[in-house]
Amino acid sequence: MGKCIGVLTAGGDSPGLNAAIRAIGKSALTAFNLQVIGFRDGFRGLMENRTVHLEGEILSGLLTQGGTILGTSRDKPHKMPVGSKVLDMTEVIIDNYHRHNLEALICIGGGGTQKNAHRLTLAGMNVVTLPKTIDNDVAMTDITFGFDTALSIATNAIDRLHSTAHSHHRIIVVEIMGHNTGWLGLGAGLAGGADVILIPEIPYDLHQVAEAIRRRRHRGKNFSIVAVSEGALAQEDARELAELKEKKQEARDEKKQKKVAAALDAFQAKHAGNTMRLSAHLEQLTGLESRVTILGHVQRGGTPTAADRILATRLGSACVTAIDARQYGCMVAVKGESTTLVDLAEVVGKRKVVPLDHPWIKAALETDTCLGNQVS
Ligand code: F6P
Repeated sequence: MGKCIGVLTAGGDSPGLNAAIRAIGKSALTAFNLQVIGFRDGFRGLMENRTVHLEGEILSGLLTQGGTILGTSRDKPHKMPVGSKVLDMTEVIIDNYHRHNLEALICIGGGGTQKNAHRLTLAGMNVVTLPKTIDNDVAMTDITFGFDTALSIATNAIDRLHSTAHSHHRIIVVEIMGHNTGWLGLGAGLAGGADVILIPEIPYDLHQVAEAIRRRRHRGKNFSIVAVSEGALAQEDARELAELKEKKQEARDEKKQKKVAAALDAFQAKHAGNTMRLSAHLEQLTGLESRVTILGHVQRGGTPTAADRILATRLGSACVTAIDARQYGCMVAVKGESTTLVDLAEVVGKRKVVPLDHPWIKAALETDTCLGNQVS
């Protein structure tokens, strides 16, 4: 048997994963004569040595399929639930890596996966990563695959919500994924012509939002679409969260750490109902009926767009080229029209947020979209 590489998909699934697996499999076999072993369900499958050989028929018909044929999980090598315990399984993972005599391991995932891959690099494994997530929040890459598909799905949903909001003279508050960044909410809101767009990067003033809706009403538009990112926060909540994070940094002894952790959990639990509360407040403040649509995981499902298929294919083949050149400990990033290798140490611990001077923000403001707060 010739040389062999491993691949796994980790974190939340994302359209384009199968296209990337296909590209890795085909280019490894065709261009570099490398065998490819897939590990099931992310780092857990690598730890439990659950594998599938990626060759022949298994690589056919994948380009259009959503999800990941390998399965995925959010398990971390160094904090893996095993029975009733949470254990550091790094050594077992390293053993399995050597058991298959792997030349390198490809980890496809978002920010969390980049961190875990970096840890494995530090533990001595040859790792190359690909950036995928519908959130588009991985640092050091222009874009992640999955984002374009989710953007299209969310935009299409806003298009459909327009006609029903218009017919019923209602506010429709549509919650869009994106974790703690606003790429998806801002992009879909802009493309779908939402009247209000609320993103985590711009904590909002509820009264400014209500005022924007009332102004529309005075102009004869008695419906409004409010696109809200799941991580968007009212100004007072953003302040509370910032204070809690500061306390977390400062907490020295265990008692204080536990207290802050409990307060952060309580904050997150309260935030889970944010979109419903926002809708109720807007109803009270504007006198218009309001409804909520939470798009949820529908944004991650189904066929990837052409752009995501192309991106995943480019990144998949570029990472096999990197392995052939023995370039390890790096992420294959997108930079303009090309791909580039970025040291994983440069990627981890950062999140790519929407800059306040981003052209999408400028365009939204100039087309009279309320962003919940004046952005200078
Ligand atoms: O990171 C992708 C993402 O879809 C986020 O937008 C969202 O916050 C999260 O995953 C949901 O995670 P889960 O699928 O575990 O509910």
